Amino acid sequence: MNAKAHSPAAPAERTRPLYGVIAEYKDVDSLVAAARKVRDAGYTRWDTHTPFPIHGIEGAMGFGMTRLPWFVLCCGLTGLTVAVLLQWWTNAVDYPFLISGKPLFALPPAIPICFELTVLFSAFGTFFGMLGLNKLPMLHHPLFEHEAFKRVTDDRFFLAIESQDPKFGLESTKALLASTGVCADVVAVHGNGDKGVLPNWMKNFAIVMPILLLVPLAWIVTARHSTSPKTRLQVIPDMDQQLKFRNQTRNVFFADQRNERPRVEGTIPRGLLREDQHYYTGKTGPGESDWATKFPAALSLDEAFVARGRERFNITCAACHGQTGVGDGLVSQRATGKYPSWIPPISLHAENLLAQPVGQTFSSIRNGIRTMPSYAQQLTVEDTWAIVAYVKALQKSQAFPVEKLSPEERQKVQ
Ligand code: HEC
Repeated sequence: MNAKAHSPAAPAERTRPLYGVIAEYKDVDSLVAAARKVRDAGYTRWDTHTPFPIHGIEGAMGFGMTRLPWFVLCCGLTGLTVAVLLQWWTNAVDYPFLISGKPLFALPPAIPICFELTVLFSAFGTFFGMLGLNKLPMLHHPLFEHEAFKRVTDDRFFLAIESQDPKFGLESTKALLASTGVCADVVAVHGNGDKGVLPNWMKNFAIVMPILLLVPLAWIVTARHSTSPKTRLQVIPDMDQQLKFRNQTRNVFFADQRNERPRVEGTIPRGLLREDQHYYTGKTGPGESDWATKFPAALSLDEAFVARGRERFNITCAACHGQTGVGDGLVSQRATGKYPSWIPPISLHAENLLAQPVGQTFSSIRNGIRTMPSYAQQLTVEDTWAIVAYVKALQKSQAFPVEKLSPEERQKVQ
């Protein structure tokens, strides 16, 4: 009786479209032979269903190469293009940021992102392309309603030809399949894929759920764009809200009721004792221009000291000022003319600098001067003095008056 329910005579069948015909086989060989026959007859919309993978079935079914690789290639190239455009636009157009006169956009640093996005887009292309080309996800298939088809997971092999096939004819296709080694009658299967198989409550759920999911989002958007006297709701508070005394507020714990405590007279933080004003600031008095004209007595101005200064100068300063100090460092050479905002470094042999007290040069390096930043983080105080000593030596080497040379020396120079 049960099998009768699926015969073409059952009333439900007449209202449902014809899916195709299905033939049943007992073994692999008959299925493969039948597949060859169907292939040679020129059918295109048909499939075989087996309990386990069969080697060579794709040849018997006449499968060509899939279109997936082309799809993946397109996705990969899209990823590559997006990566190049994204990096070029953000770095060179939207937010150009000049670093040591380097080009705003160049290929070598862009390669990792290009690689990543190419792989990412290709992976998405492969995954979703495979699903799409196989028309997945498919919630239901008409073959599932065919009682005998259940054995496909056990010990039977099936070949189904869809009615959508241009070569399909109910009687002729049935006859073709019957002429292969079938083990049961070839039967027609009705049904309309996965349309209309979802129960109504599931459909309603699928409509209502996404709308409900929008509610928290809408709430977040409203919260972000409106003000409220209440404290913000913090899902992950980290250490944002801590028990602490805020600046400029009252604190009854102290007699003066101030939260900020004044510095205790006569104390300094550990390791920050800077008693030697000359050594640490380059000044000899409290005035604006009480610059020291001599090096601190604690330093021994020997050859090793100046050599150390030359080494530090070439590492820290030469990039801008150049090794001779005339201002032709590599960074400056690269940036000059190319970027209008670049201010070239001053020549260290400028008239005013030759007469500059050593304390002032020291201060320029420690504190920065106009557009030149401070180099206090890169240099110890002693190394800074060493650089000053070297800069002074450098200046002497360039501006030595000819009159002061002895006749023999003058001969040599000429
Ligand atoms: C990033 C580039 C750069 C580096 C590195 C650099 N300078 Fe400069 N320096 C400048 C520029 C630019 C000026 C001119 C500043 C101005 O006039 O706005 C300048 C000015 C100076 C001056 C003149 C100050 C004055 O009184 O007019 C001295 C001296 C000097 N630098 C020494 C040094 C020393 C020593 C170092 C290494 C510790 C150094 N600079 C490292 C860019 C640099």
